[in-house]
Amino acid sequence: MNTHAMPHSADATTAEEALARQEVIDSSMATEVAMQNTLLTPRFYTTDFDEMDAIDVSGVRKDWDELIGRMKSDPNKGHFKKNADWDEIDWDGMEPKLKAEFIDFLISSCTAEFSGCVLYKEMKRRGKNADITTLFQLMARDEARHAGFINDALREAGIAVNLGFLTQAKKYTYFRPKFIYYATYLSEKIGYARYITIFRHLEAHPEQRFHPIFKWFREWCNDEFSHGEAFALLLKTDPKLTSGINKYWIKFFLTAVYSTMSVRDHQRPAFHAALGVDPTWYGQEVFRKTSEISRQVFPLTLDINHPRWQPNLDRMQAANAEISAARKAGGVGGWLRRQVASAKAAAAFVSLMTIPSIPNAVPETTRLVPAY
Ligand SMILES: [Fe+2]
Ligand SMILES: [Fe+2]
Repeated sequence: MNTHAMPHSADATTAEEALARQEVIDSSMATEVAMQNTLLTPRFYTTDFDEMDAIDVSGVRKDWDELIGRMKSDPNKGHFKKNADWDEIDWDGMEPKLKAEFIDFLISSCTAEFSGCVLYKEMKRRGKNADITTLFQLMARDEARHAGFINDALREAGIAVNLGFLTQAKKYTYFRPKFIYYATYLSEKIGYARYITIFRHLEAHPEQRFHPIFKWFREWCNDEFSHGEAFALLLKTDPKLTSGINKYWIKFFLTAVYSTMSVRDHQRPAFHAALGVDPTWYGQEVFRKTSEISRQVFPLTLDINHPRWQPNLDRMQAANAEISAARKAGGVGGWLRRQVASAKAAAAFVSLMTIPSIPNAVPETTRLVPAY
């Protein structure tokens, strides 16, 4: 294949073009990790595309057109590729525990980016509503570039996630459209908060930047911010989505997304130590930013300073460590230990869910700019 004639995924204007540029290198280890479906690993989603296609954005037309205009102007075209700022990395010299956790971080980030790409691309392919297909095509373009860039970084370590294979073989989880809006809105905004918090931290402590990819996080998180803005507008098109019984769903998704992030991050102690970031501090900082942003559209925020908040996150994390240990141990004993630990994790989750949330009066217009 003559790859020189094809543009780099960073310069591609559609998701299809960006993905075509990803050579199919089968790195079975990375693809196996990306194939995992547990509560903690990124999933692929499918939904009722016809229902989503029927959304009428005329109620938010002005903000919608401005957002689409900004996304079409494509400020990050060409950004997601290696340039002179990309430092050489001595993968072989990297401390083995850090290397393993960092590779796991890159694979799971790549899978998450690609999960967004697959869902958005499918909506674009199935839709007939020009507003919806235009938006989803632009978002798929961005996520394909993000996933492609992480794969570039992995390739230097001799690893690549086979994105074509994942599309075919990974299990898809069905979510009805309203759950897609809550989950995706949150994952875009929390993605912004995660990337910008690391970027700002490393700006202040450049000596802890152990890999060049973090230098790309500012422009990266601006893409995620825009995607979140789009979902905020979609949520605005129907007031029912954020009132009545749906308030409980919003609380459920907030609690699930925050607690999953906390558990997942605590599984990577060497990675966070190398960055000089305490995962508990980082978690609270990301939750604080995400909660503040989500007040643009959610009628409530979680009380992350409640006395039961942190202890139950810690309990979930301990239960999760016990689940992995029991899985490794295997046998009847391992199975029993796993049941007990799962019950503990569920009890901690229920305790988090019963913390009273903080009501929020949603503003008239949702428009926000990335402020962190
Ligand atoms: Fe992304
Ligand atoms: Fe995104």
